[in-house]
Amino acid sequence: MANIPSEDVNDGSTDSLFEHFAWLYIFCRERLFRDDTVRMIQALWPNRQPVPGEKIIELGCGPGFYSCGLAERFREISVLGVDRSPSQLTWAREKRNALRLNNCRFQSDNVLELSHSDSTFDVLIASRLFTVLPSRRLAVAEMYRVLRPGGRCFIAEPRWAFWASIPLFTMWLLAGLTHFRNGYREPSRARVLSTREMNRLFATQPWRKIEVWRDGRYQYALCEKG
Ligand SMILES: C[S@@+](CC[C@H](N)C(=O)[O-])C[C@H]1O[C@@H](n2cnc3c(N)ncnc32)[C@H](O)[C@@H]1O
Repeated sequence: MANIPSEDVNDGSTDSLFEHFAWLYIFCRERLFRDDTVRMIQALWPNRQPVPGEKIIELGCGPGFYSCGLAERFREISVLGVDRSPSQLTWAREKRNALRLNNCRFQSDNVLELSHSDSTFDVLIASRLFTVLPSRRLAVAEMYRVLRPGGRCFIAEPRWAFWASIPLFTMWLLAGLTHFRNGYREPSRARVLSTREMNRLFATQPWRKIEVWRDGRYQYALCEKG
C-alpha cells in the first residue's frame, strides 16, 4: 500500500505522480476541471485581443490545455509551456501537433529556477500550480523576474482542498496498488491557499497592481509588473 505522506509538504522525493499517472491527470484536466480560458482572456486582454507578437509563458503547463488553447485562438502570439514532467510534455506536444499549431512550444524547465533571462515574457499564466508546489514564494519571484515591465500574470487556483485533492489522492492510491516502490514529491492533499495567503504571497514582489478574487470553487490573481 502507498505510504501516503501525512504532511502536506514535499518529502524530497524526485519521482512524480504526474509522470507515473500522467493519463489520470490528463483525463481530469481535459474532462473534469473548470476551463478558465475565457476568464483568462478577459482578465489579460480586456479588448479580447493580444498584441501580435506577444510572448506568453505557462508555468506547470501539464498536458498543455491552456497553452494550446491560447495558441489556437490567437495565432499571432507565441506560447511556451514549461513543466518538469516528460510525460505531460509529450502529451502537450502531441496535442499541439494534432492542432497543427506552429506558435506553441513546450520545454522542460523548473518553475522554481527558470532557464529564461529576466524580462523575457509579456504574459505569464499558471493554473493549479501552487497546490503542488513546495516553494511558492520562489515561484512568484521567478514569475516576476521573467516578466517584462508592464507584463501581466494570471493565476488560477482551486479554493476547496477536498475537491482539489481528489486527483492527487487517487494517484497516491494507484501508486500503492501498482508500485512496490513509493515516495513521490507531490503532497497527498492539495495545498489550497486562503484569499489572505494568496494576497500575501503575491505581495512578496513589488507588482504595480495585484488583484485577487474568488469565483465559486476557484480563485484568481491578476498582477502587473511596474
Ligand atoms: C496540478 S498540475 C497543473 C497542470 C495544468 N497547469 C492544469 O491547469 O491542469 C501541476 C503541474 O506542475 C508541474 N510542476 C510541479 N512542480 C514543478 C516545477 N518545480 N517545475 C516545473 N513544473 C512543475 C507538474 O509536473 C504538473 O504537470
